[in-house]
Amino acid sequence: PVAKELFGLSELEERIKQAYGLQKVVVVPGDSDISPFAKRELGKAGAKALGQVMNDNDVVAVTGGSTTAEVAEQLTPPTSLKGVWFVPARGGLGESLEIQANTIASTMAKRVGAQYKLLHVPDLLSDHAYESLIQDPSVQEILQLIRQSRIVIHGIGDAVEMARRRKLATEIVEELQEQGAVSESFGYYFNDQGEVVHTMLTLGMRLQDIERTDVVIGIAGGKSKAAAIHSVLRFGQEDILIIDEAAAEVIVAEM
Ligand code: BG6
Repeated sequence: PVAKELFGLSELEERIKQAYGLQKVVVVPGDSDISPFAKRELGKAGAKALGQVMNDNDVVAVTGGSTTAEVAEQLTPPTSLKGVWFVPARGGLGESLEIQANTIASTMAKRVGAQYKLLHVPDLLSDHAYESLIQDPSVQEILQLIRQSRIVIHGIGDAVEMARRRKLATEIVEELQEQGAVSESFGYYFNDQGEVVHTMLTLGMRLQDIERTDVVIGIAGGKSKAAAIHSVLRFGQEDILIIDEAAAEVIVAEM
């Protein structure tokens, strides 16, 4: 489209795609830090990309967050996705209900007439809770399904902001800063080189599951998230990236 050329969005897309060997990059106009319109466009682009890669009988894992919630809002029914399962990528009780992975997985499934299974465990577990939950047969059953996902769609957050949102103890936030954590995604905290510096004790997808997943879709926007998105790109597991112009400009300038 003409507008895209005018603003150079296609060029931003192409540069990031080449630099990180991605399958597809979509850059929507604007800055979702300040524009609800840009956030909605992110959601629309995410819904479209997801629609293009889903096949019947796929298992699709989704993380929580306000961005993936926007994707769910924008999903429209295709001809038939009755055999698709939506699952949360991880446990997620803890954040507000609307942006928990469980809620988003069920909304997505309902919007496209698919199935869903939920994981009713907190986002962050104590060692003790982890050890007992992992033994539970119903937890094991859903974990197996989650780890079988062919597609994962996930948000990306700024490390310190996510640590605060999860109400991690001040010592842990300080530790994260000392370790140089800049981003967080699916329960892992990464430094600017895309190396994992901190792992949350959580139930759900592990790094090895993400590595095995066929299609990883990262979706995030806003200038304030540029460094975080860049760090997740360096981690190197993304196949499809959906971001906004404000984040893309910073990323391209840093490349
Ligand atoms: C969390 C996801 O719920 O949302 C994270 O588990 C992600 O992986 C975060 O970093 C991003 O949230 P938002 O609201 O900024 O899209």
